[in-house]
Amino acid sequence: MGQTSQVNLLFNVNGIVAVVTGGGSGLGLFMAQALAENGAKRVYILGRRKQVLDDAVGKIGLDCVIPLECDVTDRQNLRSAAAFIASDAAYIDLLVANSGIAGPSGNVAQGSSIAEIQETLFTIPMEDFTNTYHVNCTAVFYTTIAFLGLLDEGNKRSAYQGGRSQVIATSSIGSFNRKITAGFAYGTSKAATTMLMKILATYLVPYRIRANVLCPGLFPTDLTTTLIKDQNPAEEGSFPVEQIPAERAGQPEDIMGPLLYLASRAGAYCNGSCVITDGGRLSVTPATY
Ligand SMILES: NC(=O)c1ccc[n+]([C@@H]2O[C@H](COP(=O)([O-])OP(=O)(O)OC[C@H]3O[C@@H](n4cnc5c(N)ncnc54)[C@H](OP(=O)(O)O)[C@@H]3O)[C@@H](O)[C@H]2O)c1
Repeated sequence: MGQTSQVNLLFNVNGIVAVVTGGGSGLGLFMAQALAENGAKRVYILGRRKQVLDDAVGKIGLDCVIPLECDVTDRQNLRSAAAFIASDAAYIDLLVANSGIAGPSGNVAQGSSIAEIQETLFTIPMEDFTNTYHVNCTAVFYTTIAFLGLLDEGNKRSAYQGGRSQVIATSSIGSFNRKITAGFAYGTSKAATTMLMKILATYLVPYRIRANVLCPGLFPTDLTTTLIKDQNPAEEGSFPVEQIPAERAGQPEDIMGPLLYLASRAGAYCNGSCVITDGGRLSVTPATY
């Protein structure tokens, strides 16, 4: 790798081939847009809803963005998506395992009695609790495994980042937050995802594939509409300093920047890293971080 301090070279993602699951909406769409608008050769966006994916392609408006219907909880779907990309691009440099769901919420008002807590939390069907783990953690594992062959090909074929392809999972500050915000299952599923990526970073060393984690704080997306209303009914987007030191929710640039950092030469030395982008929220909440 030649030495450079130029921003346009250091943060460059020119020519990379990327897959972003959940790339049709919210944070996935912002990340797909950042890659596409900064020279990626191909950005495959995966999700279950065709219309959402097509709309995302229209929004970004660049030919390099390719929609692929795929349910990440279905191994056959994952296999088909990987097979399509193998025939279309032959390799990938970057997998962003970003698909995720929130809940089940089971919100209990402060000061509730033990009986009220039991009543609310016990009525959540166990399947709903487990489904959050299924999408947020189990599916991240199987998504990674499905694309390992293409990431390996990426290392062989591309000079990108000096030959270290990478998987990044969108986890959450929920994996460190000891306060329940999006339900018991959400935070604990994200803690599992964060740990999964650390284990994968170690496991994949012999194969020269890196694994890193993005941990966003609160960003307005479909996933957080209710959460933001509950926490701050007064003014969407603006928060008291005791809740979010930056006094605002995350904006597209707040996830695009960290993603471009990890995806480019700038972040090429990161492996097993966790990049938190939360406006300081973990600093004002009980957390394990
Ligand atoms: N917004 C935040 O404040 C925040 C904070 C921390 C972490 N996150 C994480 O960021 C990620 C993206 O969430 P978001 O906030 O951008 O919300 P979002 O707009 O609801 O995005 C979630 C995406 O995941 C996809 N998805 C869900 N289940 C799927 C499945 N079974 N197969 C394939 N795709 C699936 C959805 O597409 P389809 O429904 O079309 O399949 C959707 O595009 C999630 O992992 C979330 O936990 C968000």
